Amino acid sequence: MEMRFKIFRFDPEVDKEPRFQSYTVSAEPHHRILDCLNKIKWEQDGTLGYRMSCGHGICGSDGMRINGVCGLACQKLVKEYEGTEVVLEPLPHFKVLKDLIVEMDGFLEQVKRFRPYLISTSPPPEKERYQSPEDRKKVGDVIRCILCACCTAACPAMDENEKYVGPAALVWAYRLINDSRDDAFRERLKAVDFKDGVWSCKNYFECTRVCPKTIPVTKSINLLKREIEKTFPERSH
Ligand code: SF4
Ligand code: SF4
Ligand code: FES
Repeated sequence: MEMRFKIFRFDPEVDKEPRFQSYTVSAEPHHRILDCLNKIKWEQDGTLGYRMSCGHGICGSDGMRINGVCGLACQKLVKEYEGTEVVLEPLPHFKVLKDLIVEMDGFLEQVKRFRPYLISTSPPPEKERYQSPEDRKKVGDVIRCILCACCTAACPAMDENEKYVGPAALVWAYRLINDSRDDAFRERLKAVDFKDGVWSCKNYFECTRVCPKTIPVTKSINLLKREIEKTFPERSH
């Protein structure tokens, strides 16, 4: 089948304004959008910029806006778009470095501010820190996060408050707050309890809709809010 693409192009080093460029490639129904991008780059236009690594929904590097919806180009089959012109754009709320490649530093800084690593007061055991299957289940959903940034890019609350830490950072906070091996429960909970933290989430559910790893993002944020209210009943807001 013939697939038509309209792709966002912008190289800040040479272009004054962004523009869209059209391409047509032949593809099989089971091919993914990423396969088409590779075909365009390898056979038609080597100047096209996008990120990819694993090609199989693991590395999180090819997040982009596909016909207006944030997702991974390696997870979207072309047959889902048959007969339409597929518009590819960089993730919203992110600075464009080139074409579909966006600056991720600020996004990763927001994740880092919640210390995305285990904090333990007990000395390291000889082998690994053991976790029961029941405790593992408590973080089983959120542990799947691949930091693709689709949720943060899709979140309408980011339009209302650009300082909002965003859903991905909160997913990582949630994961450690609920990890049975972590000893910084109260500190971590306090760290997300501020205006630009959990309280900027307005329950639009876009993050949950777009998450390629089907993580219940909104639910996790709401559970954090509930946990804050339960753990610190004296707080005023
Ligand atoms: S549920 Fe919260 S984090 Fe998710 S898109 Fe809505 S406002 Fe953003
Ligand atoms: S929560 Fe989902 S959408 Fe957000 S960064 Fe993680 S994997 Fe991507
Ligand atoms: S290329 Fe790794 S997630 Fe798509």
